[in-house]
Amino acid sequence: MRRREFVLGALASGIGYAGALDASFTKQIEAKASEPAAIPYGAAVRVDHLKNNFDYRRAILNHCQIVVGEGGLKWIDLRPDRDQFVFDQPDRLLAFAEENGLQMRGHTLAWYGAMPEWTETIATPKEAQTELVRHIETVVARYKGRIPSWDVVNEAIADTPTGDAPIRESMWQNRLGKGYIELALRTAAFVDPDAQLVINDYNFENPTEQCRTRRQAFLNLVRDLKDRDVPLHAIGLQGHLPGDQEIDREGLSRFVAELHGMGLAILVTELDVIDNNLPASNFDRDEIVASRARDFLGAIGDVCRPEAILTWGITDQYTWVPIWFSRSDGRPNRPLPLDANYRPKALMRVIQEFTRGDR
Ligand code: G3I
Repeated sequence: MRRREFVLGALASGIGYAGALDASFTKQIEAKASEPAAIPYGAAVRVDHLKNNFDYRRAILNHCQIVVGEGGLKWIDLRPDRDQFVFDQPDRLLAFAEENGLQMRGHTLAWYGAMPEWTETIATPKEAQTELVRHIETVVARYKGRIPSWDVVNEAIADTPTGDAPIRESMWQNRLGKGYIELALRTAAFVDPDAQLVINDYNFENPTEQCRTRRQAFLNLVRDLKDRDVPLHAIGLQGHLPGDQEIDREGLSRFVAELHGMGLAILVTELDVIDNNLPASNFDRDEIVASRARDFLGAIGDVCRPEAILTWGITDQYTWVPIWFSRSDGRPNRPLPLDANYRPKALMRVIQEFTRGDR
C-alpha cells in the first residue's frame, strides 16, 4: 500500500488528528488520564528534567501511573568503576514516584549495551559471574519492595538469530554463554522473591523473516527457562515500531498467545514509532504513527490484556530516536504521545483507548 493510501485509510478508520488539538480537548485528555486506568500507563523519564522543566514534570504527573528511568540504572550510569555504585538518578526518580503515588519499574540489570569501559577487563567466566551476581544483589536489594518490576535481561536475542547463535553477543554471553540469563533471573529472585522479573526485547512485530526468526528464537529461550523452572514472570515487548513497516498482526498475536500460554504476563515497555521514513507533514506522520501503535496494541490486546503500557519517553522534546533515526529532511522526529510543546497527538488517543479498556 502506498503511504498516501495508508494515511487516507487510517483517516477513514477514524483516527483523529491531534497535532493541532484545541485546549478543551487537551484538558479532556488530561482529565481522562487522571481517572483510574484499566491498564496502567507509564513513560521512560529523564530524571534531570523533572526538576528543570515544569511542563515535563506536569505531563508525567498528569498522564502516568508508572515511570521507568530512561537511564540511571544502566551499568554505564550506576557503575563508573568496578567498586562504585552511583544511585543518585534512580534514587531521585524513586523519590519522585513515591511522593506522587506512581510505581517505578527497574531498567535494566543485564544488557549488552551501555556498559562502562572497565567491564571489558572482566576476563574469565568466574569473574563475570561474580560481577553479575554482585551487581544484581546490590541493586535489587537496595530497592527491594519499592521497585516491584525489573527488566532483568534486556535484548538477549541476536539481531538475526541462527540455530547456532540465537543469543546476542555481549560481554555476558561471551563469558558465560546463555547461562547468564538464568543466573541473572535466579539472582534477582533470590534477593527479592516478590519482584516481577521480566525479559525485555524488541523487533518481533513486522511481517519479515527477521521478525519471524526472532520470535522463534525468543520462544525457544523462554520455553527452556520455564521448563527448568527459572523464575521468570513476564515478557516486556518494547515496541520501538518502525513507522514504515506494517504490523504482522497475526504473527504477533500468535507469538503473544504462546508466551501467555506459558503463564507469562505481557507488558508493553518502550512503545514509540520510528518516523524517519514517514511523510514530512506532521498530520500524515502522526496518523501513521498512531495507526502503527493501534495495530501493535490491538494484536496484543486480541490475546490478553497487557499489564502495563509504557512509552519510551512522553514528549517529542526528549526522545532517543534522533540518535539513530534522524530525518534526512532535518525535521524533528515525532515518535511519542505528546508533541514537543506538550500537546497530545493521535498516539495519545490510541494509548488512552487501550488503557481505558475501550478496545
Ligand atoms: O548524559 C550525556 C550528556 O551529558 C551528553 O551531553 C550527551 C551527548 O551525547 O550524552 C548524554 O548521554 C546520552 C544518554 O542517552 C542520555 O540521554 C548517551 O550519549 C546516549 O548513548 C544515551 O542513549 C540511551 C541509550 O538507551 C543507551 O543507553 C537513550 O537515551 C535511551 O533512550 C536508550 O534506551 C534504549 C533502552 O535502554 C533499551 N531499548 C532500546 C532503547 C532505545 O535505544
